[in-house]
Amino acid sequence: MESPTYSDTTMNKRTLDEKKSKHRWKILKNAILQKQCTESDPVNLVSIRRFSTFGLFSTNQLPGKSAQGGHRWEEYTCPHHSQINVNIRHLSNSFSAGELIGFNNTGNVCLWPSEEVLAFHCMKNAELFKNQRLCELGGGMTCLAGIAVAVCSDAAEVLLTDGNQTSVQNVKEVLAENSSKFGHTSVAARELKWNQRQTFEDLNGHFDHVISADCLFFDQFRRDLVDTIDVLLKAKGVATIFAPQRGKTLDDFCEFARLRFTVEVDHKYDQLVWQKHQEMLIQGKELYDENIHYPVMITLTR
Ligand SMILES: C[S@@+](CC[C@H](N)C(=O)[O-])C[C@H]1O[C@@H](n2cnc3c(N)ncnc32)[C@H](O)[C@@H]1O
Repeated sequence: MESPTYSDTTMNKRTLDEKKSKHRWKILKNAILQKQCTESDPVNLVSIRRFSTFGLFSTNQLPGKSAQGGHRWEEYTCPHHSQINVNIRHLSNSFSAGELIGFNNTGNVCLWPSEEVLAFHCMKNAELFKNQRLCELGGGMTCLAGIAVAVCSDAAEVLLTDGNQTSVQNVKEVLAENSSKFGHTSVAARELKWNQRQTFEDLNGHFDHVISADCLFFDQFRRDLVDTIDVLLKAKGVATIFAPQRGKTLDDFCEFARLRFTVEVDHKYDQLVWQKHQEMLIQGKELYDENIHYPVMITLTR
């Protein structure tokens, strides 16, 4: 086969750039016009959010705290775990053009159901984290699951991360607000990008646990996410991941992960979540689509 000429390569690059730029403008246009698009559209895979929660936590708005800055503080408690009582800061849903076309912004839109279920799972299994070091990847603007570990367990260390600077800044505010609730656990937040090794090379083999929610749908980062988990985990470390099936995205992630880890996939991991899922399948047909809303649990070990 003939190798491409300089002008072919330039042309391909230009076409690719044009495609990328068109895609970004589409995201921006959708956000500005709040346009509803079809579910086969990849932009919409993340933007549609008809079903928002399994109701595992009770939330209570804190209007006094929320008045300044356009963000919203909410108190999170859980009827099934008396230990958790944290104040979480949510960003306002209006984003600047720079934020919309910059680094992925899905973690600043809302707290996704997979994060809620991961947090619930971590609280229920808090004893697993005693004296352990845990890192949350792609925790978005709340990192609720990592925060739940920090509050409900005797973990040695919890590191909350995301690649989005705005998310991490928000998580730092959440940490400052709840700092009296972490006991002896050392808790911090920082920017960590799966595709930029320099953002985590100091953490090689540092963690007993990695957790992550709803981070498997990025086609360009799935391999990077597996690599990052591989770098961060100790030899006997465990990664616990919750994400919806979302077309082929979860299976594709598992395929990459099997090259490095033993992969277990579990659909019926918790009786209460399963019961709520069954109820939604019957009563919430208009709102609830198992494929994009039900978090599947994946466990990676070596
Ligand atoms: C759908 S959000 C999930 C956020 C949160 N876990 C939740 O479920 O509410 C996906 C998250 O992945 C993060 N992300 C995407 N690509 C990333 C990358 N290359 N490195 C680090 N984080 C990334 C985004 O910033 C975003 O917060």
